[in-house]
Amino acid sequence: MTDVLPTTGPAVGRISPCRMVDLTEHTDPRGKLTVVEPGKEIDFEIRRAYYIHHVPENAERGAHGHRRLRQLIVAVHGSFDVVVDDGFATGRFRLDNPSRGLYVGPMVWRDMVNFAPGTVGLWLVSEPYDESEYYRDYDEYLKDAKAIA
Ligand code: TYD
Repeated sequence: MTDVLPTTGPAVGRISPCRMVDLTEHTDPRGKLTVVEPGKEIDFEIRRAYYIHHVPENAERGAHGHRRLRQLIVAVHGSFDVVVDDGFATGRFRLDNPSRGLYVGPMVWRDMVNFAPGTVGLWLVSEPYDESEYYRDYDEYLKDAKAIA
């Protein structure tokens, strides 16, 4: 599949840069409908979806990286920040619009912080859940991130 994602935001992600993606929005008097379709808004097939909600005040999530997985992250309600790190540079993306998502590719360490009360975050991802595909240890991640650069 060709790369259909625009490149915006901090240059983080040495294999595939993190970037904000404008999703296709259909507005009419009944409200808004937002679409995410592989080959259009994202360049990977969606093999799993999950969402986070009821995040307590000041809670932080993430603190991991993925070896292969690609994902689109959307704040479908509320807001939060995603802090990304590719072992060389860091960036911070604010997610506060259900019609804009953050694409995060492989070999990026990420933290999710600054959740507004009532936030619901949606993850559309390219792989089935596989704990062995995660980096949970930052030093291990960093060693491999430096090695592939
Ligand atoms: P975790 O990776 O810690 O979430 P976050 O990245 O938001 O901080 O996942 C929390 C728990 O959920 C952990 O026990 C793993 C489990 N989990 C699944 O079983 N399947 C999944 O698809 C995901 C994303 C997590």
